[in-house]
Amino acid sequence: MNGTENIDPSRAQAGAAVSGLDASSLVPAAEGYERWASTYDHDPNPLLAREERYLSPLLLDVRGKRILDLACGTGRWLEKLMARGGVSGVGIDCSFAMLRVAKNKDAVTGRVARAGCESLPLRTAYFDLAICSFALAHIGDLGSMVRELARVTMAGADVFVSDLHPDAYTRGWGVGFRDKNRAMQIETVRRSIEAIVSVFRANGFECMLNETLWLGSPEQRVFEKAGKAHIFADASQVPAVLICHFRRLASQADVQFPRKHPEGVRL
Ligand SMILES: C[S@@+](CC[C@H](N)C(=O)[O-])C[C@H]1O[C@@H](n2cnc3c(N)ncnc32)[C@H](O)[C@@H]1O
Repeated sequence: MNGTENIDPSRAQAGAAVSGLDASSLVPAAEGYERWASTYDHDPNPLLAREERYLSPLLLDVRGKRILDLACGTGRWLEKLMARGGVSGVGIDCSFAMLRVAKNKDAVTGRVARAGCESLPLRTAYFDLAICSFALAHIGDLGSMVRELARVTMAGADVFVSDLHPDAYTRGWGVGFRDKNRAMQIETVRRSIEAIVSVFRANGFECMLNETLWLGSPEQRVFEKAGKAHIFADASQVPAVLICHFRRLASQADVQFPRKHPEGVRL
């Protein structure tokens, strides 16, 4: 599979938007999520499905945890984690439209605030579990975001980060969707895994795990639902999702080299 074969804007709806869209289809994140919000939870999205298939078992029991969902969007993870026993939870996002959807979910109502991830309206050293799902590539100033994350989390806090895999960008995938009229691709910043991990390490996090996920047979059903079964075989050859698990160290002096943990880490 090469970049040219990937050119198929109709794939955008399945959450695997690709290159080949014309310049007018590329929109800033603010506009993109304003338009995507109303269908975000309903569009068949194999990337979200794959991420959940991996992360959900690791986050089954979060009883007593103080949870931060950074760039929470429609509150996908916050809703799940509160249902699994989170003692308190907050979702932060900069999109009014995404937060409007989030606020309609019972477990999320009253728990979300509009803010940029780079400057959090949150108290210091409070959260012991944070998740930032499919948002990293929209954050221009990753250093500021991770510095804030370090400030608001407690020593020992677990932080899970997911995003479209850097190799998927290289193969021509992007972040996008299709609204009534056209396919749209949302602006992103490309970073290598090493660049991401090094920003976290520089801010007092140990990398417990970085894992590459490929789409598998459960996601094939998502493609079928979206009427895209014919492109699944190619899509399943691409490293699709990156998952990182970081742990907040007590002090910068404790920062260690990241190591691979194939099974992930249970909380
Ligand atoms: C693909 S959505 C992911 C939403 C949710 N985390 C999920 O996985 O379903 C990306 C989200 O990042 C938010 N976002 C982008 N840049 C942001 C920033 N600088 N600060 C806060 N939120 C941001 C967008 O508004 C959008 O809701």
